[in-house]
Amino acid sequence: MRPDETGMYHIPVLAREVCDALIGDTHGVYYDGTLGGGGHAEQILKRLDKDALYIGVDRDPDALQAAGERLRLFANFRPVKAVFHQVPYVLATVGVEALDGVLLDLGVSSWQIDADSRGFTFRENAPLDMRMDATQGETAAELLSRLDEQALANIIFRYGEERRSRCIARRIVRRRQSAPLQTSSDLLACIDPCVDPRYRTKSYARVFQALRIAVNDELNVLKEALTQLTEVLKPGARMAVITYHSLEDRIVKHFLQQMENPCTCPPHVPVCTCGKRPVMKRIRPYFRTPGTRETADNARARSAKLRVAEKL
Ligand SMILES: C[S@@+](CC[C@H](N)C(=O)[O-])C[C@H]1O[C@@H](n2cnc3c(N)ncnc32)[C@H](O)[C@@H]1O
Repeated sequence: MRPDETGMYHIPVLAREVCDALIGDTHGVYYDGTLGGGGHAEQILKRLDKDALYIGVDRDPDALQAAGERLRLFANFRPVKAVFHQVPYVLATVGVEALDGVLLDLGVSSWQIDADSRGFTFRENAPLDMRMDATQGETAAELLSRLDEQALANIIFRYGEERRSRCIARRIVRRRQSAPLQTSSDLLACIDPCVDPRYRTKSYARVFQALRIAVNDELNVLKEALTQLTEVLKPGARMAVITYHSLEDRIVKHFLQQMENPCTCPPHVPVCTCGKRPVMKRIRPYFRTPGTRETADNARARSAKLRVAEKL
């Protein structure tokens, strides 16, 4: 990764595709639920008129500060510290009721991953934190010391899709009987005996992903946000979501399918009687991925999928 012009180590993924798909009314109100370093925000703001409004939400105060610095020349940018499913709170804070576009670029920024102190990394001796908002909530270390073996195994299996989850959970529980796990190295030592050394790094990534999702309650927050944001989109306005792993992509895919075809009538019934009408239309292609040029420049883009839908 190379630093961008603000010194932040995050390159916005699929930026041109997001701008092209998202921007309809250039005087409208846009909700960026994952402001991060403000990379997408800057590209979009450059295309909006001065009377548009760009709401940049992040739960990480460090991201808000960095993006605020980067976007300081845009008078129509409003940063808000919130979790992105707190839609009524955010809209009340800026005084609007409906949106002309929504962007969610999920997960953590490269900058957060690169900052060892945030604990998202499995580089040696990083603290086991993983909170996107480091000012509140339970850290990964606290979670690892509180949960019983079964709950730990479930998290590692469901959120990390790691097959050796039970073995890893057993090792964690055995290890914490002598001393609490405090650093990435403590956790890696519990994973190592359970997995094939040839694929160790993949297991590390899966376990760290699982803990991060649990610490930040990422999947529940995402489901809630999709519902809430759809309600406040204006007809014709679009929602763009970039996902980086199959769990979050599945949630977005199923949500949009459901919004496009909510009818619950049995297939043999000739006329719909349930009364549930489509709320969103998915934009084709149903998802986009970055090209080889983008993934060569930005390794983080490799797993990205962009899905876009329009409110009816
Ligand atoms: C992938 S980065 C976004 C990068 C940004 N699009 C850019 O171009 O710089 C994700 C950001 O969203 C924030 N974030 C993730 N989940 C969030 C949530 N549920 N609520 C608020 N912020 C969230 C993270 O703290 C991180 O700063």
